[in-house]
Amino acid sequence: MFTLTVHGDDKIARIEPEIYGHFTEHIGGVFYDGIWVGEDSKVPNIRGLRLDLIEKMRQIHAPVIRWPGGCFAETYDWRDGIGPRENRPTRINWWRNADGRYEPNSVGTHEFVDFCRLVGAEPYIAANITSLTPLAIRDWMDYCNSPAGTTTLAKEREKNGAREPFGVKYWGVGNETWGGGGNMTGEMYAHEYRKYAVVMENADPKAQLICSGADHHDWHWANDVLRVIEPSSRIMSGLSLHFYCGSAGDPLAFTEEEWYRQLRQALDLERAIERNWGFVVGYGMEKHARLVVDEWGCWHPGGSGPSPRMKEYGIEPAPNNPEGVGNLFEQQSTMRDAMVAAATLNLFNNNAEKVKMATVAQLVNNLHCLFLAGGEHFITTPTYHVFDMMKDHMGGDALRISGGLGEIAREKFAVPNLSASASLKDGKLTVTLANLSVTGSADVKLDLSRLTEANEAEIITLTSSDPHAHNTYEDPERVKLARAKGAYTGIVTVPAFSTVTLRVNTVPEE
Ligand code: AHR
Repeated sequence: MFTLTVHGDDKIARIEPEIYGHFTEHIGGVFYDGIWVGEDSKVPNIRGLRLDLIEKMRQIHAPVIRWPGGCFAETYDWRDGIGPRENRPTRINWWRNADGRYEPNSVGTHEFVDFCRLVGAEPYIAANITSLTPLAIRDWMDYCNSPAGTTTLAKEREKNGAREPFGVKYWGVGNETWGGGGNMTGEMYAHEYRKYAVVMENADPKAQLICSGADHHDWHWANDVLRVIEPSSRIMSGLSLHFYCGSAGDPLAFTEEEWYRQLRQALDLERAIERNWGFVVGYGMEKHARLVVDEWGCWHPGGSGPSPRMKEYGIEPAPNNPEGVGNLFEQQSTMRDAMVAAATLNLFNNNAEKVKMATVAQLVNNLHCLFLAGGEHFITTPTYHVFDMMKDHMGGDALRISGGLGEIAREKFAVPNLSASASLKDGKLTVTLANLSVTGSADVKLDLSRLTEANEAEIITLTSSDPHAHNTYEDPERVKLARAKGAYTGIVTVPAFSTVTLRVNTVPEE
């Protein structure tokens, strides 16, 4: 039996809803056939955008969507994606050398913002500072955000169908600037940042600018960058961090040892958060800038998703994929990926004072995805269900939890037995418990300190008989949520490799 105390009077911080955000790039099948099917498609759509996907995104209250990359952003010119679709140019897509596909620009700023609005999410645009000038980015911001009828670009936006401004609040100043985004040193990027940021702030003083941050366990980047940015720090609202966990065997046929290796890697994100946050605080920037983990998730070898079997499924390849090659980076998502998602979201909840936004990579037909789609086929993955069951943490106050989480030692991959987080919103307590053990079920006694619980609870469970379980076009609901209402006894049983979210009405104790 594990005993955990949820401290009702020890608030960490508000859990920003944006921590439960998403990332979408023009890569493989994310847009073309994933999100965008085109207005003439027989797949149900709203103005070309896949209807089923929009509805599922609404269900999880998706708060923010990052676009257009990723590396794709490095050579993206926003002007290619506006105006009548039939006149838009076809360009070399950043990923062309990997999958032979070109960029038709059928999805541009209007379509992306339309997608966000239909979903109810805020758009987060990653600006290309690798191959566009500060002036070109200023113009993009002008096009998006200037009031109707003011500038020439606001009038062009209106001519293209959007009189009212898009009101894009979040702007990334480059992407992975240590890699594809300019191959810079931290210091070089910091000088570029200062130049772009001052122009971008001038274009829209309300914009929140996100500084391109470190990869994974790079402990130097944030220091090198913030040292130079600090004197102009008022124009930085967030420091990004990218954290993928890979190299843990086959996405579907992993071993027990690889299960723990994957989880160990995922949990190490906490060290990366602490380290990067240390620099933000060290340079005195924490009042206006928090961390933005704008790419995270499992990165398995590609090829395990359904797209290599397009012909068999009768799926017409997207127009920019005439050869019908499988979607780049597309991978299946099993109970293991769901567990990584639950443990990561718990970790963000528990670090709510440090992390203000996070976008999982990537939404559909890609790395740690929530959906797999092709033609008329559309399914949710176990990872989607984690976002669904944990959505009530969004906007709640994260509460401190104490007690033993246990430890499972598998040679060098020691992981805690449990991952847990708790939050309080409108008098309702939400607790998420993930049992990271692949073999043993866990009984958890929850002590609520300074809170009195009502005697009824809603219990949402994601479980399966097999840690490798996943959904397919043939068996789309093999992994799904179970919801139950019952008496709250203070003891929760979490089956092996499963996640439970508990919702209880509470009243604070005097
Ligand atoms: O998500 C795939 C790629 O991973 C992104 O384009 C890039 O930013 C990262 O390296």
